Order: sequence, then C-alpha cells, then structure tokens
Amino acid sequence: MVLITLALVALLVTSLWLYSKHRLSYWAKRGILSPPTLPLLGNFVDIVMGKPGRWTFDEKVYRNYTKEGLGGAYVLLSPVLYISDPEMIKQILVKDFDHFSDRQTFTSLHKNDRTLNESLFNKNGEKWKRLRNLMTPAFTSGKLKNMFHLVTEKADALKAFCLKEATKNSYINVKKACGRFTIDTIASCAFGIECNSFEDEDAVFPAKVPPFFAAGPLRVLKFMVVAAFPFITGFIDLGVFPEEKFFFQQVAEETIAARRRGAKRGDFLDLLLEAQASEKNFPDDQTKAKILDDATIISQSILFIVVGYDTTATTIAIASYLSSKNPEAQQRLRQELQEIVRKEGTITYQGVMDAKYLDACIMETLRLYPPAPNLERVCSKDYKVPGTNITVRKGDIIEVPLWSIHRDEKYWPEPEVYNPDRFMPENKADIEPCTHMPFGGGPRNCIAMRFALLEAKVALSTLLLTFDMKTAPGFHDLDLANSSFLIMPTSVNLVLEPLTED
Ligand code: HEM
Repeated sequence: MVLITLALVALLVTSLWLYSKHRLSYWAKRGILSPPTLPLLGNFVDIVMGKPGRWTFDEKVYRNYTKEGLGGAYVLLSPVLYISDPEMIKQILVKDFDHFSDRQTFTSLHKNDRTLNESLFNKNGEKWKRLRNLMTPAFTSGKLKNMFHLVTEKADALKAFCLKEATKNSYINVKKACGRFTIDTIASCAFGIECNSFEDEDAVFPAKVPPFFAAGPLRVLKFMVVAAFPFITGFIDLGVFPEEKFFFQQVAEETIAARRRGAKRGDFLDLLLEAQASEKNFPDDQTKAKILDDATIISQSILFIVVGYDTTATTIAIASYLSSKNPEAQQRLRQELQEIVRKEGTITYQGVMDAKYLDACIMETLRLYPPAPNLERVCSKDYKVPGTNITVRKGDIIEVPLWSIHRDEKYWPEPEVYNPDRFMPENKADIEPCTHMPFGGGPRNCIAMRFALLEAKVALSTLLLTFDMKTAPGFHDLDLANSSFLIMPTSVNLVLEPLTED
C-alpha cells in the first residue's frame, strides 16, 4: 500500500513537473527571451516580491529580456508577452483592437458580488462594448462642465483644511489631504454623498477604500490564481473582493432609491440612471438584452470610487511634490494661474482647460509616476504580430510596461529630470506616439481621463494659488509604497506657506 502511494505521489510530482516544464518553455520555443522561472510558479515570486512594486520586475524584462520590442514572462504557468515597441503597441491597442479588446477578469462566485462583477473594468467582449457605449456620454466635456462646481467646492474644502493644518503643524501630509479631496469629490460625483472627510477624522467612506487595494501576498496570489485558471471561479469563491463591498452596495442602493423619488444633481449617478432609461426605450431583441440594471449601475459607482480615488490623489500629491522640488517651475505655474484669475476673477472651467503649463506639469508628473504602471490586454483571437513570425494565441496576456517606456532615454532625453516643457505645445510634436500613455490607449483607455485631469488641475491650481510649497525637512525623497497594483507614495510631506497678497 505504502509503495503504491509513493508511486502515485511520484507519478503526480513528475507529471506536474513535466507539465510545468512544458508550459514554461512557451516563450523559448517562440524565440522570445524571458527571465529564469521557478517550477509551477513561473515568475510569480519575482512579480509579487518586486520592491517597491511589480514595475521593478517589468523594468527587468524591459531592459534585459526584450528583443525587437518583445519580451516574455510567466504569471504562474500563464505566458505574458511584454510589448515595448511603440509602433507595435499602437497596432495592438488601436489598429487591431478587435483581437485585444479584453482584460483579465476577476469575477467572484459570491451571490452578493454581482455588483462588482458587472463593472466596466471587469467586462469583456460584446458586453463591455455595449456598457462602454452607454457610459461614454457621461464623460463628455459638456457633462463635466456641469460637475465643475462639485469639484471646486471640494477643492475649497482642501484649501481650508490645509490653511488650518498649516497653522498647527510645520508640514502637511499632502497625499493624505489629496486623498480626502478625491474621495469627497468622487463620493459627491458618483454617489451624490457628502462624506465631509476634511471635517471628520473618522469619516467612514475613506476608511472603506484601502482594502480594495490591499496587495498582501495572499490576495495577489488569489488574483493570479483566478487569472491563470479563470474556470476556478465557477467552483470556489476565493473572496477576491473585500467585505467593504457591502457598505458601498448599500449606500448606492439607498441613493438610487432617493434619486428615483426626486432631486437630480447632474452627477454620474444621474447620468447612468438616464442611460438606463434610454436603454429601456430601445426595442427588445434576443441578442441585445438590456444590460444597465440597478446592480450594473451600482457596480460602476463602486468602480469609480475604487479606481478613481488613489490614482488621482497620487497624481495631485506627486505634482505638488515635484513643484516643491522645482521652485522655478512652481513659480512659472503660479504666474500662469494668477494670470487666469486676474482675467476671469476666479478659477474657471475654461481657464483650467486652457492653461498650457498646468497641463504640461500634470503630464510630466504622469510620465514620471504613472499611477497605473502597466497596461494589460488578453488576446481574444489568434494574432500574428506584424513584421515578426510570432503568433499571439487566444488567451495570452499582453503587458505594456508603461513605467519603463516613460523613462526610456530613447524617447525622453534625461528621463529622470522633471521637465514640463516637453509637453508644451511647441514641443509636443517631438513626442513619439505611444510613449506616454498614463491613461492607457485605444478604445479601452481610461473612460474618466477628462474627469481625472479636471480634478487634478483644479486641486493643484487651488493649492498653488494659496501656498508656496517646499519639501519638509527629512522628506526630500519620494518613498513609494510596496504595491503590486498601483504606484502610490507612502506620504508626501510638504511645508505649505500661505502666500501673502501683493
Ligand atoms: C490620474 C488618475 C487616473 C489615471 C492615471 C487612470 C488610469 C487608467 C488606466 C491606465 C486605465 C487602463 C486603460 C487601458 O487599459 O488602456 C484606466 C481604466 C479605467 N479608469 Fe482610470 N485613471 C484615473 C482616474 C480615473 C477616475 C477618476 C475614474 C472614475 C471616475 C476612472 C475610471 C476608469 C475606468 C472605469 C476604467 C476602465 C475602462 C474600460 O475598461 O473600458 N479612472 N484608468
């Protein structure tokens, strides 16, 4: 009996080892370089343990294992193809989008998780396309203009908070303050909720978001297992979404009920409810069942909070940090903003949109620190990469290593230097297409790019018109949090000195 058991175990181990060996030779057989792997785990350990984050591993592939714009790696046993050549990136993200319209999805079996499974980020194929078409009108400049006052209200709260803090403390954690600004803005624009996190240290809303980004090894492992073996979610609930989902679900349900009873605010929730009503007017047909039910709308509201909170707060905080490190650029930006205020009396939607140097400073911030450091697509039908003999197979994962491309001296002279002039209108033509993509690219780019830029520009303008900014003693370097998902500073501590009126 013991002998049989040992023989079976040996057979199992050998089969697993052979299977792993076969899977992990995928790139070598296709002439694509890839870093050394561990049996069964591929490059999983390197990816998860990379400090401060996954982009450290991506940089290794980009610099050492890329030939003719292509490099390989393995998430567990799933092959991942790194695409770094800008022309190839354009081909994949834009021109041949119909082969690459999908991302890995992280659905959950839990019966209460429909609200998360239905989010735009998590949808693929025809469902994604229809949802995206229904949601796109909510992000036009006309709609954003109507939300401008909601954003400036929160920026005024940020200013009041920082003025108060500046009298009490020698420096302020601007990252935390910007987090309160973005959570208040998104809660207001996506849920119609006033969460007053500037007044209330213990505000519930901000405390409920971080668990969605918790990137401990166990959670990352769960994500990767779901990614590598998507069928598994049909049998086991791995619990990839945190318990906090119930809180947001309940808030969204209550708010939708209130909207149906009366008051409109012109925010994202109203716009999604309008889209739902417009969908009801289409005649039914078999292939186009309605998709915008209440659970799907709630899912988008939660998604906006989850994807919009830290990305935007990080952008504003790092833009403030880089202004502090570069006093001349700070002064030039302030002068541009003061000129707008002199002409228009205050910060206006058009003023913010037209400010060229403000735009250049934000773009340069996003070049150096793109909050989402890589883009991902999943191949939905076999694809021969033009100009090569490589065929990407259905199901293969594609990665675009943004962090590395944004800092490659081939495209960006002195890449580590903060130089907003690169993005001024007279120099923009020198930027090679697809070498600056903080919001992604092609039809599946960030749907809220204009909203995020509006928020970041209004907040940075408000801060710079109120304060002179310097880095705090002992905090001259930017410390990035260890995270597998997003680029996030641990804190951004700045001395904010209120400006005196001339
Ligand atoms: C500076 C802030 C932000 C940055 C840098 C950013 C970046 C990105 C990136 C890189 C993607 C993936 C694009 C691709 O795969 O090509 C994305 C997708 C997305 N973002 Fe943003 N984002 C920001 C703010 C926001 C905000 C505020 C919201 C919501 C209000 C939002 C909603 C979304 C959604 C819904 C998607 C999925 C789009 C789809 O799959 O069709 N983002 N974002």
